[in-house]
Amino acid sequence: MKRTLIGDTPKLIGKKIKLSGWVNVRRDHGKLIFIDLRDRTGIIQMVVIPDKSEAYNTAREIRNEFVIEVEGLVKERPGSQAKDDCPTGKVEIEVGEMKIISRVEGELSFDVSKKELDLTLPTLLDNRSLSLRNKKTNDIFRVYSQILKSYGEVMRDYGFLEIKTPKILSSATEGGANFFKIKYFKRDAFLAQSPQFYKQAGVGAFERVFEIGPVFRAEPHFTSRHVNEYTGLDAEMGFISSYKDVMNQLEVVMKRILRDVERHCKDILAECGSEFFIPNKFPNVKLTEALEILRKEYGKESEGIDIDPEGERLISEWAKKTYNSDFIFLTHYPSSARPFYVMPSPDHQYTESFDLLFKGVEIATGGQRIHEYGRLLANIRRHRLNPADYKDYLEIFRLGMPPHGGWGLGSERILQKILSLQSIKEAILFPRDVKRLTP
Ligand code: 4AD
Repeated sequence: MKRTLIGDTPKLIGKKIKLSGWVNVRRDHGKLIFIDLRDRTGIIQMVVIPDKSEAYNTAREIRNEFVIEVEGLVKERPGSQAKDDCPTGKVEIEVGEMKIISRVEGELSFDVSKKELDLTLPTLLDNRSLSLRNKKTNDIFRVYSQILKSYGEVMRDYGFLEIKTPKILSSATEGGANFFKIKYFKRDAFLAQSPQFYKQAGVGAFERVFEIGPVFRAEPHFTSRHVNEYTGLDAEMGFISSYKDVMNQLEVVMKRILRDVERHCKDILAECGSEFFIPNKFPNVKLTEALEILRKEYGKESEGIDIDPEGERLISEWAKKTYNSDFIFLTHYPSSARPFYVMPSPDHQYTESFDLLFKGVEIATGGQRIHEYGRLLANIRRHRLNPADYKDYLEIFRLGMPPHGGWGLGSERILQKILSLQSIKEAILFPRDVKRLTP
């Protein structure tokens, strides 16, 4: 008999079928044995009636998380309170035959069949292979998969070509000190802090490119929104009139991702009570204006022209209050706060750049880049960097480049905010932080 998936069982009442999966939980009621079986499409209750059958003897051996194969009859569940959004709750399986495919060695650290795992973050992450089997934890990554799918689709729809760029580099890309130095045969090398230089080279060849790829940051932070390896959703587009074209494109992308998640992950969003509001137009304010709003409305003074995480949270609160928007763009960051490749404003005080905040956290940075060779060379010097270190990057611009810009978007931060997860690490399968290199 061919395997049936649990999600298909409601259509098969009265039929004999074969299911395989994991034992989510075994419950004994007197002599009746109930087993909730789990596969990639859902969870279903199975009943094993006490008799002298082989199946009953096998069922008595079964423990949570065993992998089993079952043949049985699909029946309407008596007195079922099942809701329409959980169709498999309307049926159950009366087990005829049962085979153990694989057993659990030793004890399980916790019961994954619980609705809420109720574990500390370190325990959740230390036992990741087990915690990922919990429905609520598992669902996080179903939403993530939708985010990645939608990003790829919307970018292609707008003529962006998907590229993959190297992650082992001869020099650090984004400046600063947050790079990982590695041994590369007899030389030193660096793990990519972003695909920045290579996606710009992509513009020279393909005009519009995007990448979904790993980003490495040696940031010694212990915050709820930083990790040392994350997946960046990058984009770069040629022939723009200004950084505003990039902002408009990013707005289209974010709306598409959220609408797709709303449509395809409805049950998961409802289950975790997650809400977000997609405005018609994302509001935008200059960073200096944002700092003024923080001072006037929240009595928050800032040091210089810079916004800290509390400021980001408050200005998002203001955007929600004023525009009923969970998004806000902050623009015109000072040159000193941006890397050398970002287009300066005519007076060199500010840059033609932006950050996008979503529900109080920065999820993207972007802007226009310098595309003229001479200006780029001058800006490298202005930032007190050595042009010789950027020989290959400068070569892109010697060959003729259109006005262009792009963004770097943190995929896990989007997921964290959509599902209101406390820590970004809950949004990563096997996260890496300052202390965590396993599992
Ligand atoms: O602001 P960042 O550093 O910008 C860049 O990498 C530029 N090359 C982007 C560009 O095209 N101009 O990083 C971009 C985004 C952040 O907004 C954030 O969402 C995410 O990447 N990010 C992190 N996510 C998790 N952990 C970290 N340590 C992160 N650092 C940045």
